[in-house]
This record gives sequence, C-alpha cells and structure tokens, in this order.
Amino acid sequence: MRLVFLGPPGAGKGTQARELARELNVPQVATGDMLREAVANGTPLGREAKAYMDRGALVPDDVIVRLIAERLAQPDAKRGFILDGFPRTIPQADALERLLGDLGVSLDRVVYFDVSDAELVRRLTGRRSCPKCQSTFHVTSNPPKHENVCDRCGSTLVQREDDREATVRKRLQVYAEQTSPLLDRYKKRGVLRTVAGEGKIETIHGDIKKAVNG
Ligand code: AP5
Repeated sequence: MRLVFLGPPGAGKGTQARELARELNVPQVATGDMLREAVANGTPLGREAKAYMDRGALVPDDVIVRLIAERLAQPDAKRGFILDGFPRTIPQADALERLLGDLGVSLDRVVYFDVSDAELVRRLTGRRSCPKCQSTFHVTSNPPKHENVCDRCGSTLVQREDDREATVRKRLQVYAEQTSPLLDRYKKRGVLRTVAGEGKIETIHGDIKKAVNG
C-alpha cells in the first residue's frame, strides 16, 4: 500500500497513520516528525527548518523533497508507506510523482480528513506530544493514562511550539492557500477518498480502512 494522508493541521493524520502503519507493517513517513527530530538533534536541516516551523510557515520545497527522496529510497519503504504531511504544495506533489515514476510505482490512495476549523483549533491547542516517540494525546479527548506522561514510552509530554493559538491560525491559513489545491489534483486522478475526521478515533480508523481498501 502506498498512501498519502492529506488534511489540515490537527485533522488526526498522525494519530491514524501511526496505527495503520503498524497494522499494515509499512513505515509512517511523517515530514513534521522528521523535521522535529532534526531540530532536536541540532542538525543543519533542523537549524534551517526551525524558523519556518515556529512561525507556522512551510519549510522550502527543495529541502523537503530531498528529505523524502532519501527516506523513500530506504529498504523498508519498498513494502509501501503512509506519507503523513507530504506532499503539501503543488511542486511537492510534482516531485513525488517523479520520484514514484522513477521507482516504477504509483499511489494507491490519498485519504483526505475532513474536519471543521473550530474542531482543529480545539484539538491543536489541547494537544500534548511526546518529544521522544512522537505519540500525541489531547488533554480532554484523548488523555494519557497519567497526566502529562506518554503512555507508550513514559516521557514527559510537551506542548509543541507551533500549537499556540496564533500559530495554529497561521498554519490553517497556509493549509488553505498552499495545500488544499492538491485535493482537486488527486480527485482528477481518481485516487482521492474523503473520510469524516470528527468522531471517535476508532470509528475513523475503520472508515479509513474501508476507504483504502475500497
Ligand atoms: P506537521 O507535524 O506535519 O503538522 P501538521 O500537518 O500541521 O499536522 P499535525 O501534526 O499538527 O496534525 P495531525 O493531522 O497529525 O493531527 P494529530 O493526529 O496530531 O508539520 C509541522 C510543521 O513542519 C509545518 O507547519 C511545517 O513548518 C513543517 N512541515 C512538515 N511537513 C512539511 C512539508 N511537507 N512541507 C513543508 N513544511 C513541512 O491530532 C491532533 C490532536 O487531535 C491530537 O491531540 C490528537 O490526540 C487529537 N485527535 C486526533 N483524532 C481525534 C479525534 N477523532 N477526536 C478528537 N481528538 C482527536
């Protein structure tokens, strides 16, 4: 399975991709997680990306495309993958098409998560993230078993710098301007499936499985 999870910030892409990737035994390729790891490790990529991320802007396309090209060349991606947070611009989608073409493969499905802006703001401002294993929780709708402690690895949870309300609103604007035009492209290609992204996490998970298999 070669899948793209597409949707605005906070739509639940990471929550669902992590689970489905485990079930399908394919890697979850999350550009946001990869960039945050680079920032935490103080690499040149991390130093370049940080300023863009903190203000809710997109990291330049050439940087992201290089990152994805390296990741998809790794052996585990031969089995398939879930792209979570990529592509996010028309030039990124063009680059992905070229990369997959070179590998002689194509996308099976693009799953679009449909969630209202009010719910996105509520989710992001209440999100708590694990800096170590990247698991995400929500203070009310998906709380960890012990307050501020990651269920999966026991690390202390943090609020992401870009989850403060002003930056969240900026990220939603960037999504509307630069990423939402991709919906039309994938619709025309016949691979787009829309999933209602509000409701129980388990119900949405079932809907995604139907969408990717249908
Ligand atoms: P990135 O990390 O990709 O952020 P994003 O797309 O903005 O997505 P999020 O991680 O915020 O949301 P999500 O949809 O994964 O939601 P989640 O599952 O966590 O990117 C961050 C930055 O990196 C970008 O701004 C940019 O600077 C840079 N970047 C990354 N990729 C790039 C690219 N391709 N090009 C250029 N720049 C790039 O869920 C959110 C919350 O809701 C959680 O608290 C969760 O517990 C909760 N939740 C989930 N599902 C439900 C539900 N059904 N009901 C209630 N709560 C729920």
